Amino acid sequence: MSDIAQLESELLAAVSSAKDETALEAVRVSALGKSGSVSALLKTLGAMTPDERKAKGPAINGLKDKVGGAIAARKDELAAGALDARLASETVDVTLPVREAPVETGRLHPISQVIDELTAIFADMGFAVAEGPDIETDDYNFTKLNFPEGHPAREMHDTFYFPQKPDGSRLLLRTHTSPVQVRTMLTQKPPIRVIIPGRTYRSDSDQTHTPMFHQVEGLVIDKSSHMGHLKWILEEFCKAFFEVDQVKMRFRPSFFPFTEPSMEVDIQCKRDKGEIRFGEGTDWLEILGCGMVHPNVLRNCGLDPEEYQGFAWGMGIDRIAMLKYGMPDLRPFFEADVRWLSHYGFRPLDFPTLAGGLST
Ligand code: DAH
Repeated sequence: MSDIAQLESELLAAVSSAKDETALEAVRVSALGKSGSVSALLKTLGAMTPDERKAKGPAINGLKDKVGGAIAARKDELAAGALDARLASETVDVTLPVREAPVETGRLHPISQVIDELTAIFADMGFAVAEGPDIETDDYNFTKLNFPEGHPAREMHDTFYFPQKPDGSRLLLRTHTSPVQVRTMLTQKPPIRVIIPGRTYRSDSDQTHTPMFHQVEGLVIDKSSHMGHLKWILEEFCKAFFEVDQVKMRFRPSFFPFTEPSMEVDIQCKRDKGEIRFGEGTDWLEILGCGMVHPNVLRNCGLDPEEYQGFAWGMGIDRIAMLKYGMPDLRPFFEADVRWLSHYGFRPLDFPTLAGGLST
């Protein structure tokens, strides 16, 4: 076998056994690259006599063409193989069930749902939402709300205090949403009509109390609002919230430093085998505290009690959520257990509205 034929068979064998494009490129460089074996043969043509060139030229050029052609063919073959392999590995099985989208599996916490519900109800009555910080001053949480220094009413609220500052003052975690009444009156000119949902804190823990809980406060200040308006608002709220046509309410005299007179409100209910139903029955359940804003509070917030008056109320959000949705224990609210959430949670796109239904 001639040298050329020998080289040809070696190169063609190398081409056909190249497993991928990198190996094939290595063969191409070794044959047709600058210092490749075929290129070396081509270079010898220049030094030959015309007769020699006539005899050997076609063979060497033929070798170059053959090897080049084989490399191109192998390249196509490898590309087709790679595409087949990719198609095989990325096969889509169209018969598999569709995976649920996040909005189908995610759930809104009942607290978020209830805040959305009560915001929808009070917004319909013309209330705006006001907010304040969880960390408050003693002044806003107690003093401006007419809790006298050292008065036992301060102790009613087992308070979480921060360490004392050099000037003797102490910040605290607000024990109720009422300090936002103060913030609102200090910054807005009446008429004021706000609700204040938010987190509140007290050192307390059992089946129906957690150290962090939620309240919604209401505040109305103008020149003529009175207890009749307060009772009507609370009654309309309870009917809308519990989604019943009728609800009986009982207003009992009570005491809060920041209201005068003060009342606690019970709603009529029926307790039946661990279940509570509203709008029927002969039992009563306490759901909120309320009253006419105390003249001292108005004065502490820069309003003249001879000119302005109004009312306020405060209600536990967790409690009304438990009542409405039949959740017996408060603690799992804050345990972040997805099984609990998928049972008691709400679909995120079913936003509560009065027209479309609050909880459906
Ligand atoms: N702040 C009271 C509490 O946490 C609740 C409350 C009662 C708020 C009467 C009010 C009110 O605005 O008028 O126990």
